[in-house]
Amino acid sequence: MSAAPPVRDPWNASLYQNQHAFVWEYGQDLLSLLQVKAGERILDLGCGAGQLTELIRRQGAEVIGLDSSPQMIAQARDNFPALDFRLADATAFTLEAPVDGVFSNAALHWIQQPEAALERVYQALKPGGRLVAELGGKGNIQTIRRALAALLAKRHYDLPHPWYFPSLGEYTFLLEQKGFRVTYAILFERPTPLEQGERGLFNWLTQFAPVWLAPLTPAEREQLYWQATEILRPQLYRGGIWWADYCRLRVSALKPESES
Ligand code: BEZ
Repeated sequence: MSAAPPVRDPWNASLYQNQHAFVWEYGQDLLSLLQVKAGERILDLGCGAGQLTELIRRQGAEVIGLDSSPQMIAQARDNFPALDFRLADATAFTLEAPVDGVFSNAALHWIQQPEAALERVYQALKPGGRLVAELGGKGNIQTIRRALAALLAKRHYDLPHPWYFPSLGEYTFLLEQKGFRVTYAILFERPTPLEQGERGLFNWLTQFAPVWLAPLTPAEREQLYWQATEILRPQLYRGGIWWADYCRLRVSALKPESES
């Protein structure tokens, strides 16, 4: 095993927005659950390159985009210079004034302290405010994870994956413990076609797996990605397209008007 530099900000913002646009494109559907009203103050938590933040603005809201990746925030500011983007951690942020809604698409599964993030969200909301979120749920990318774990084990690495994929029961319990009233929750499979044909899975791994494989050198990582594509081809490559076995957890929850 060779030592590799730590992966501090693993995000390649241009790869993300050019080849993984499906992440925010699927988020448009989630946005319809938020039902933004003109004049509302909304926080987009884990805003990435800002595409959904901009859509929230277009619905008439005053919106703040927050992300912990300097690269993503730089890309978001470049994409939408008029918007308010902030670099901050979901487990430690504070706002100068509470918001009517918190929206979060494909971000909360990166946070290993879900209670801390939900506490920040709860504190950021006005009484009566709502959280609408989608994250990877139990079983998310299980086929891909198993292949990577097997390849890591062959190299004598014992590395847990870095994501938080809760079951519906676990997450709604956490929400209720924080004081939220859960109004909607669903866990569903969403096999997702990856862009770039033959290179689709390799590019997906290049974007999303480095955090997990941080102790490997870049060359070792690349070799592992190619090996993973060969293992996964029979299960996930169909008709010239790679399919990621995504499983999503969607929730909508209210902060009560008064504490009970
Ligand atoms: C997701 O959106 O579910 C996801 C993306 C990358 C890594 C892990 C999960």
